[in-house]
Amino acid sequence: MNLQRRIWLTGASSGIGLALAELLAAEGHRLALTARRREPLLELAARYPGQILVITADLTDRDAIGEIAEQIDAAWGALDWAILNAGACEYMELPAFSASLVERVMQVNVLATANCIEAALPLLRRGTQPRLVAVGSSVTYLPLPRAEAYGASKAALRYLMQSLELDLVDEGIATTLVSPGFVETPMTANNDFPMPMQLTSARAAQRILIGLERGKREIRFPGPFIAILRLVAALPGWLRVALTKRKTGAASQHQETN
Ligand SMILES: NC(=O)c1ccc[n+]([C@@H]2O[C@H](COP(=O)([O-])OP(=O)(O)OC[C@H]3O[C@@H](n4cnc5c(N)ncnc54)[C@H](OP(=O)(O)O)[C@@H]3O)[C@@H](O)[C@H]2O)c1
Repeated sequence: MNLQRRIWLTGASSGIGLALAELLAAEGHRLALTARRREPLLELAARYPGQILVITADLTDRDAIGEIAEQIDAAWGALDWAILNAGACEYMELPAFSASLVERVMQVNVLATANCIEAALPLLRRGTQPRLVAVGSSVTYLPLPRAEAYGASKAALRYLMQSLELDLVDEGIATTLVSPGFVETPMTANNDFPMPMQLTSARAAQRILIGLERGKREIRFPGPFIAILRLVAALPGWLRVALTKRKTGAASQHQETN
């Protein structure tokens, strides 16, 4: 039997989040959808009357996150799943290493997510079969060029979630880390390098939902892509660097011409 869950999903206005919101709504779950852009959330809410709370907010604003939690509390009094999917990606363009870029990416991917976790936990403690979910990235399996900030932010998220898993297990709150490979979304639309085995956002959302319903602690896909990343990561350093540079050559060529 399918449980009708109370779910907070961040980053629901485009890409993976929007596709996941579509699937969850179609399954009859109650959703609190957040993002800065309101229109896509309202459009979905109009198709599922009474099922969706639309809460626009910038997640880098800590007070705004507190207000989201208050609205969810007032509406449902608890959360069964919190799916923290909102994220941002900016690439580093060496030789101009930018600490401000690192700060911006960390702000969204790590600090905003941490603020969301702080806001979600009291609600999850009152939920049914509660699960805290964060969307990381397969980039954490193998360091890639230009991903200094993005990769570091997702590596931080991986550790945060795995550490939290240990501390939440006695309370009965499960955790899931989602580690997608390349997915066709606005985030990747302007990427100028090869994106092997890229999935559509609908397919990625399906993979995530199946994994969540099976109670997986990590959902990673596509399998063959992750296997290659892990294999290359396990090679001796000189070979790993040479192979990674060669396979991402398009990116370096782009840098040289700019
Ligand atoms: N696409 C991929 O290949 C890929 C691979 C691995 C992991 N991921 C991860 O998957 C997640 C979803 O990314 P996506 O590819 O679907 O990209 P996307 O279409 O750009 O979606 C990002 C979502 O995050 C929201 N967001 C960003 N900054 C925000 C902020 N400050 N406050 C509130 N919401 C904010 C955006 O909403 P608004 O702009 O409306 O605020 C949007 O809904 C991210 O965590 C990303 O790192 C993506």
